[in-house]
Amino acid sequence: MLETNVCGLNFKNPLLLAAGVMGSHASSLNWILNSGASGVVTKSFSIEPNPGYHNPTTVPVEGGIINAIGLSSPGVENFKEELEQIDSKGVRVASIYGASPEEFSYLASEIEDLIDVIELNVSCPHAMCGYGSSIGQDPTLTEKIVKATKESCKVPVWTKLTPNVTSISEIAIAAEKGGSDAITLINSLGPGMKIDIKTGNPILSNKFGGMSGPAIKPIALRCVWDVYDSVEIPVIGVGGISNYKDVVEFLYAGASLVQIGTSIMDYGPEIFKTINTDLNEFIENSDFNSINDMVGYAHKKI
Ligand SMILES: Cc1cc2nc3c(=O)[nH]c(=O)nc-3n(C[C@H](O)[C@H](O)[C@H](O)COP(=O)(O)O)c2cc1C
Repeated sequence: MLETNVCGLNFKNPLLLAAGVMGSHASSLNWILNSGASGVVTKSFSIEPNPGYHNPTTVPVEGGIINAIGLSSPGVENFKEELEQIDSKGVRVASIYGASPEEFSYLASEIEDLIDVIELNVSCPHAMCGYGSSIGQDPTLTEKIVKATKESCKVPVWTKLTPNVTSISEIAIAAEKGGSDAITLINSLGPGMKIDIKTGNPILSNKFGGMSGPAIKPIALRCVWDVYDSVEIPVIGVGGISNYKDVVEFLYAGASLVQIGTSIMDYGPEIFKTINTDLNEFIENSDFNSINDMVGYAHKKI
């Protein structure tokens, strides 16, 4: 009942691990696959190693957390070893980042034989200048990066967008024009900050970071809604999901799949089994016959 097919790939349920939250090690990603996720997205990685920002890189806040990891990456050569060990019983999504079409296309060609999907991180809100959301706020550059990536690999390419734009539909349409096979949204929101009132210092070493967790869910949901109306390709929802009701909302708004990140810190990897069980029961007690029937349902009501 939970199976679905997106971009020609079979998913045993609509739940995937979101990029970054479980780090880069294959053992952690396989743990998530064994906990009921149908697929995993790796932490974003680059061509060269990048140490990222100093600790502290995450801080809990009302409704979620703020993080500024700074896109730490072991570099593609070191990361290949981890990619080879991710269990192919789930859909393996590699998240990559760079600063130019050439960097993205090089990364894609280096790893395409080791994974099932490439997700382009053009949306990190705490990346160094020239990376992350500074790309995903520019429709022309987004289109060029997607096009260059598509030309250098045969696997489906998903483009992950930032909500920190005036029109998320404009960027999604540019990614679709570039040949993106799906749109993932949203990356963490912000940047935001937290100050230690004893010392007067910002808590994060980078001062500012991206907000994630339940507080951003209404924004993520609205982004999915807008983009579903604007493109023909599938939409993948992420942001603040912590239970099956959240998943149902995302499906109704137009998501074909969803990703879960911050809630794993509160509920552990068991969250995937719990949501799958509850979602299955919800569908059995409804008039829906499949996940696909639910995608975009709220749009049909209008
Ligand atoms: C600690 C942490 C690390 C993250 N690292 C990445 C990353 O490497 N690449 C990326 O595209 N998104 C990254 N994200 C963003 C998540 O994948 C997700 O888009 C965002 O957190 C919203 O979902 P959530 O509320 O379920 O966490 C990270 C988020 C967190 C909290």
